[in-house]
Amino acid sequence: MTQSLPLGTHTETLHGFQIHRARLDPGAQQRLLEQVRDVVAAAPLFTPETRGGKAMSVRMTSAGKYGWFSDRSGYRYLPQHPSGSPWPEIPAVALDLWRDLVDARRLPDCCLINFYDRPARMGLHQDADEADFSWPVLSVSLGDSALFRVGGVNRRDPTASTWLESGDVVLFGGAARRAYHGIDRIRFGTSALLRNHGRINLTLRVVD
Ligand code: SIN
Ligand code: MN
Repeated sequence: MTQSLPLGTHTETLHGFQIHRARLDPGAQQRLLEQVRDVVAAAPLFTPETRGGKAMSVRMTSAGKYGWFSDRSGYRYLPQHPSGSPWPEIPAVALDLWRDLVDARRLPDCCLINFYDRPARMGLHQDADEADFSWPVLSVSLGDSALFRVGGVNRRDPTASTWLESGDVVLFGGAARRAYHGIDRIRFGTSALLRNHGRINLTLRVVD
């Protein structure tokens, strides 16, 4: 354990998604936010396109060995930011969470960072571009509340939803690793963490 647990932390499970409520206390959220700002300064946010050529409503960037990218040619990991610069280091607060909740010996090689800073959503999808699904995905929420919808491994499986708040951490491993999930909407103004409101989500992934 590299950090003491903040007061009020508890764990719930929804369709196999393990939700660690309030896992980051306000000080840790602030530190992570500053580390995210450093990533964005070195690897500016961009608007990805779907395979159909539509602009996604979230803006994104990445840190680590690989960054996730999408355009008309499809979804894939890139070894460099689209500008040609290397991806920055993964934020230390996020790596500590991975060490505590997943494995201290094998660290993730991608931290995808999504910005929901205008009315943005993310349709139901699977995280399926990684080589080894025995590694979970670890997701961290910062800023305004988001309605997170989770289903099963088939698109038509029943779904359930829950609000994710700033500081909540979700682990999707086991059967939930290939399960459909998405963000239906953001409740703007519910958190004071981001000056201009909105939400940031970080997902840590083992890619190779
Ligand atoms: C994602 O699935 O990549 C993002 C989920 C979230 O924003 O919580
Ligand atoms: Mn996802």
